[in-house]
Amino acid sequence: VKVAILGGTGKFGTALARRLSEQGDDVVIGSRDPEKAQRVAAEVGVAGAKNEDAIAGADLVVLACDASAALATARDLRDAIGTRPLLCVASELAVKGVPSLAEQVAEVLDAPVAAGLHTVSARTIGSEQDALVCGDDEDAKALALELAGRAVDGRAYDAGPLANARALEGLTGVLVAINKRYKAHAGIKLTGV
Ligand SMILES: NC(=O)c1ccc[n+]([C@@H]2O[C@H](COP(=O)([O-])OP(=O)(O)OC[C@H]3O[C@@H](n4cnc5c(N)ncnc54)[C@H](OP(=O)(O)O)[C@@H]3O)[C@@H](O)[C@H]2O)c1
Repeated sequence: VKVAILGGTGKFGTALARRLSEQGDDVVIGSRDPEKAQRVAAEVGVAGAKNEDAIAGADLVVLACDASAALATARDLRDAIGTRPLLCVASELAVKGVPSLAEQVAEVLDAPVAAGLHTVSARTIGSEQDALVCGDDEDAKALALELAGRAVDGRAYDAGPLANARALEGLTGVLVAINKRYKAHAGIKLTGV
């Protein structure tokens, strides 16, 4: 498959280019600066070009530029991308938008609130998988983590502040989609920890 990685000169794009090239894909690293693209691409052993030129002929475009520039870059390259399929890998580390259910629950209570087990389904409780728990109150979170550790045959991980419940609550919908697509009962297992 011919893949164009926009902003492919960065840490993620370079690593992805190397991996895909090893797997047999025809990869072009894109950059705002064609010389930079060619220099980085030569180190990786793939082709390099200005973002606009990298897109030409690609079967799939990967938008891998700095997250703060992803939207503006998509707008700028709208015509060049045309109707080519695009994979957006950009992600903001700060979770924004509507507060999570857990944050709203915390608002109406005097109690310290933790949130977790969003990726553990009723059907798979007790099976081999990990659990993620977040919260702002360390004591409440420690208790919730102990419980979560008993609820799965895996590890319970501290997933940061309660604001991360926005991402965790969203994972339930992601797993539901995966379960439908693969007729499965998916859970989550972290690697590299
Ligand atoms: N790093 C990871 O482990 C990881 C994991 C999953 C997803 N991601 C996502 O993958 C994307 C790339 O991550 P990264 O760590 O490789 O990022 P990065 O190194 O900060 O940036 C990647 C490239 O973005 C381009 N860029 C920077 N500012 C730009 C601007 N104002 N307009 C257009 N392009 C700009 C630069 O390319 P040129 O200067 O060559 O144009 C830069 O090399 C991010 O959106 C991130 O959220 C990263």
